[in-house]
Amino acid sequence: MKPSWILLAVFVQVLSSVASVIPQVLVNSDTDHVNAVVFTQDRKASKKTLIDVLKENKLLDMADLIYRAGLTKNFTSTDNFTVLAPSDLALDNLPYVIREKLLTNTKFAKTFVEYHVLKGSAPSTSLQQDQVNATLLQNRTVRFNRYTVDKKSEITVNGAVLDKVDLQASDGVVHALDKALWPQAQYDILDAISTTKSLSTFAKAIKDGGMNGTLAGHGPFTIFAPTNEACKKHGVITTEDAKEIVLYHSVGGTQYSAGLHDKEELTTMLKLHLLTRKLEIRLKDGQFSVKGRKDTAKVTVADIPVNNGVLHIIDTVLRPPLLY
Ligand SMILES: *[C@@H]1O[C@H](CO)[C@@H](O)[C@H](O)[C@H]1NC(C)=O
Ligand SMILES: *[C@@H]1O[C@H](CO)[C@@H](O)[C@H](O)[C@H]1NC(C)=O
Ligand SMILES: *[C@@H]1O[C@H](CO)[C@@H](O)[C@H](O)[C@H]1NC(C)=O
Ligand SMILES: *[C@@H]1O[C@H](CO)[C@@H](O)[C@H](O)[C@H]1NC(C)=O
Ligand SMILES: *[C@@H]1O[C@H](CO)[C@@H](O)[C@H](O)[C@H]1NC(C)=O
Repeated sequence: MKPSWILLAVFVQVLSSVASVIPQVLVNSDTDHVNAVVFTQDRKASKKTLIDVLKENKLLDMADLIYRAGLTKNFTSTDNFTVLAPSDLALDNLPYVIREKLLTNTKFAKTFVEYHVLKGSAPSTSLQQDQVNATLLQNRTVRFNRYTVDKKSEITVNGAVLDKVDLQASDGVVHALDKALWPQAQYDILDAISTTKSLSTFAKAIKDGGMNGTLAGHGPFTIFAPTNEACKKHGVITTEDAKEIVLYHSVGGTQYSAGLHDKEELTTMLKLHLLTRKLEIRLKDGQFSVKGRKDTAKVTVADIPVNNGVLHIIDTVLRPPLLY
């Protein structure tokens, strides 16, 4: 842990211990009516604000960021909110420069926090597969997914796992995340590929294959995009081959790594001789790769959220099998 974060944690703990001195209403009351006791407990529970709930659940750095961003008073209004709170460890795992900026730049902290909050209460049961919601940050949305991994149900937001759900406050609900979300530009998968320098060869293949209209569409899509270096290793992607190659790297739906399991087969958008072509996921010992019929590619950057799906960057072009 970096020293600044230790100091923060101590600071929040001090605040938190002051806040926890709750008046013991009715404790010494002379009534022994059972309902009176229940009433007291309910009142206490209903008075817990989102900030209290964050602190209680050791989501101290998020509580602190809300304070630094000057948004604490927003959570004491009559409105309800859903706070998607990265754990202290998740925030600690952010690159050093980002952490420094969060601590020193109020505007940046505000942007970051606003991207982690939804207006209105969204309990976990209300979160649907591929549900997209606006955040407090203008024009920026998040996408929820529901997966079943090893028979366990999992909910993700932009690929981050909701570790602890439904931490209830009087003014909303908190879900704890295993990763921080990134308030990136709101672009679709085509924009994301076209504007990434190291993917320009694949971007050209998308255009050459006439797939740019499709990939700018609603989707959602998952694309395993090979880097320029991978394309160079593969050799020229001719205009004739472009469409098949692009389709073979594209899968319908939003397949974040948290929702995948080892040996899972994904149906690509490539259909030849009436048969779909599949890719197999390899997820073992922290290695994420994707296997085609002829090649295996390592995922070098996983889980890049885009507004119509998710992008993974790979180090090898997967050659489509022409025959089964
Ligand atoms: C927070 O509250 C202030 C003052 O009420 C308001 O102007 C601002 O828009 C609110 N910010 C968000 C992100 O809701
Ligand atoms: C906030 O949520 C509480 C409890 O779920 C509800 O009673 C209240 O009406 C909500 N307030 C607003 C402004 O939606
Ligand atoms: C999220 O989006 C869904 C689907 O559009 C909507 O029903 C729900 O009310 C939204 N929830 C919040 C908290 O914005
Ligand atoms: C938000 O999106 C709307 C419509 O897409 C656009 O007119 C507006 O300029 C955007 N605002 C910001 C702050 O990006
Ligand atoms: C796709 O590319 C063609 C040819 O370059 C262009 O005319 C068309 O506008 C593009 N469509 C999108 C959605 O970018």
